[in-house]
Amino acid sequence: YGSARVLVASNRGPVSYTVGEDGSLNAKRGGGGLVSGLSAIGSDADTLWVCSALSDGDREAVRRGVGEDGVRMLDIPADVHADAYNGIANSVLWFVHHMLYQTPLEPVFDAEFRRQWASYETYNRAFAEALAAEAARGAAVVVQDYHLTLVPGMLRELRPDLRIGHFSHTPWAPPEYFRMLPDDVAGQVLSGMLGADRLGFLTQRWADAFTACAERFAGGLGGTRIGVHGLGADADFLRRRSHERDVEERMAALREEIGPAPDGGARRTIVRVDRTELSKNIVRGLLAYRRLLQTHAEWRERVVHVAFAYPSRQDLAVYRDYTAEVRRLADEINAEYGTPGWTPILLNLKDDFARSLAAYRLADVALVNPIRDGMNLVAKEVPLVSDAGCALVLSREAGAYEELGEDAITVNPYDITGTAAALHEALSMRPEERAERSKRLAAAGTALPPTRWFLDQLEALRADQ
Ligand code: G6P
Repeated sequence: YGSARVLVASNRGPVSYTVGEDGSLNAKRGGGGLVSGLSAIGSDADTLWVCSALSDGDREAVRRGVGEDGVRMLDIPADVHADAYNGIANSVLWFVHHMLYQTPLEPVFDAEFRRQWASYETYNRAFAEALAAEAARGAAVVVQDYHLTLVPGMLRELRPDLRIGHFSHTPWAPPEYFRMLPDDVAGQVLSGMLGADRLGFLTQRWADAFTACAERFAGGLGGTRIGVHGLGADADFLRRRSHERDVEERMAALREEIGPAPDGGARRTIVRVDRTELSKNIVRGLLAYRRLLQTHAEWRERVVHVAFAYPSRQDLAVYRDYTAEVRRLADEINAEYGTPGWTPILLNLKDDFARSLAAYRLADVALVNPIRDGMNLVAKEVPLVSDAGCALVLSREAGAYEELGEDAITVNPYDITGTAAALHEALSMRPEERAERSKRLAAAGTALPPTRWFLDQLEALRADQ
């Protein structure tokens, strides 16, 4: 047995390394909702975060024995990892849960898929074995996300003494969509997850979908309990971080780029911040903004759309194509409507956390329009950080909708004219109403801070014993 009493397992860990030109290793904070939520767990002596080496830099760090306290990176062979992460997790399971397939042509579950599935099993086994080796008797293990669905079942066999939880940061597909997976694979995913004592989801909607899948395809939940833990934004961290000097500097630069309205006043800003991710629906967001400029000429020269689309999953061709489409469309709209003193869209494709916080502070409107999203923390963060309070245009397909729906302007993410109308409504909202709504959104969005979110899960896991 090992010595860790609380263990977290996830594909992406809190840091990732790159090798500098001089051979030195540079650490960078991991991105995405999972890492944001878990960054609060701290590094107590008996806490261990097990994650994958994701890059050459990470593998080099493992080889040199470089790393953070309380973090263990697994150096799984690069080809096995690529099959499991790019092939199965991000091209199949992510697509199923976010309902992203263009079904007349995809998915195709062929021999290549079977080969990748075998790698996914190997990769899950590597995690299960590492956790089994590191965990103290009776320890609590919380396994994260769709990359590691088989781990709870495997770990249960290796270490029946452990308390095992699994948390999904994604939606869960309803049975009609989930059944697209080959029956044996669907069965393995469900029975792997049901090896846990507890399964956590971000909203009731995803929890219900999982329960329905378990009932239809796995004979029910058995002894596994389900909990809903709606991860909130980290108010303390964001308030402090968004007032640091680098953010203030970027605000000044951004204000300059946005420029003044023709009447001398400030231009309004519509802000979005996403990974360049198919499920985030960035292309339809740009189309809606174009529609706004078409149908509401009064906003021309008076609004700027500040759009952050950070690079993500660039090993996958569909993500590269999507990024190219986002860029092309933004250029097209800028060429169509831009004037010498006005760039309608400021598109940011380079990862710059401080600049996105600067945009949060300047935001008049936040646009969050995913096709489907487990939660979406941006929807909770912008109202909290914006200096004057912002209006939130929010897709009803985001998990955050269940908590923020009342004070947001909600949209069907496929409806371009509807989203354009929502943007107009948001831009036209009276400042007092906007500020009030923004306050309520911030309160709802911080109801369950990351530390509490994690501790609640641990308490629930231990209480069941
Ligand atoms: C989502 C997933 C996380 C993932 C994150 C970033 O939030 O639920 O598991 O870490 O996206 O994606 P990436 O593939 O870069 O880890």
